[in-house]
Amino acid sequence: MTIPFFLETYLREVQCEPNLIQLISYIARAAKYVQHAIRHEHLGISGTVNVQGEEQLKLDILSDNIFCKHLAESNLVAQISSEEQEDAVVLMDNLGEYSVAFDPLDGSSLVASNLAVGSIFGIFPGNGFIGMTGRQMVAAGYMLYGPRTTLSISIGKGLASFMLNDLGEFQSFSEGIRVEETAKIFAPGNLRAVTDRPSYQKLVTKWSDEKFTLRYSGGMVPDINTIFCKGNGIFAYPSSEKYPKGKLRLLYECAPFAFLMEQAGGLAKTETGEDILDLPIQDLHERTSILVGSKKTVEDAINMLK
Ligand code: F6P
Repeated sequence: MTIPFFLETYLREVQCEPNLIQLISYIARAAKYVQHAIRHEHLGISGTVNVQGEEQLKLDILSDNIFCKHLAESNLVAQISSEEQEDAVVLMDNLGEYSVAFDPLDGSSLVASNLAVGSIFGIFPGNGFIGMTGRQMVAAGYMLYGPRTTLSISIGKGLASFMLNDLGEFQSFSEGIRVEETAKIFAPGNLRAVTDRPSYQKLVTKWSDEKFTLRYSGGMVPDINTIFCKGNGIFAYPSSEKYPKGKLRLLYECAPFAFLMEQAGGLAKTETGEDILDLPIQDLHERTSILVGSKKTVEDAINMLK
């Protein structure tokens, strides 16, 4: 039996700041409780809507409470901002070293059909988010709750993945994850957009003509995780009449994944070619279009969509 290598050991090896290691450990602990909630708590709607006007599930609220509690307990966080809450919450103001943005349970409606879901987070230095760009994050990551629970993280020194074992530890799964320049896998989100955007129709047809493999589950976390696991791919969520700015949120979803994809050698851009990591956060809940994955395939796709 080989001796496993744990999340905290990895973070120390890549010379992560001790306080950041501590904060990431609190987030990892929150993930264990979210996983437990997904497996054991009742499904169903809560009767409330979030700031986007979307119906909240009981699990959305529970996961949000779990994250808030553990981040508050860390005593390291100035502000938190959750996709489930309208405003940022001040925890320690200028006494906190970091601010954490998170989507506590992305794709939560997929739990009802027992598909994989995830949590996403981005850690910013200092107090607050407005005016910051994704490039300023000191770490980003996601947890995937599927047949296995994994945590993938980058502190700007490559991308590594850990799997939750039966002893409640995140043990090393894969390190130095890389994404090739050209994709052979596609995850075309918002396919409804093909009816009002002929260029998207052409792009999707091109991918299928080139015999790309379709891997789309309807959850951003598992769908982008597939790209990291297979080492190539493209995930797209363009704008459409229904979602003129795209559907996915810059702060809670797109910026963290852009950070992780860049660390794996890939790219994340808007459909008009702006680098997602350079977009300033102007509103906590703003949305953006996104193409993320293998560099060359992302660039080619943007040229076709423009
Ligand atoms: O933002 C929530 C989310 O569920 C993402 O995880 C996913 O990629 C997207 O929405 C799916 O959207 P649609 O239902 O339009 O395919």
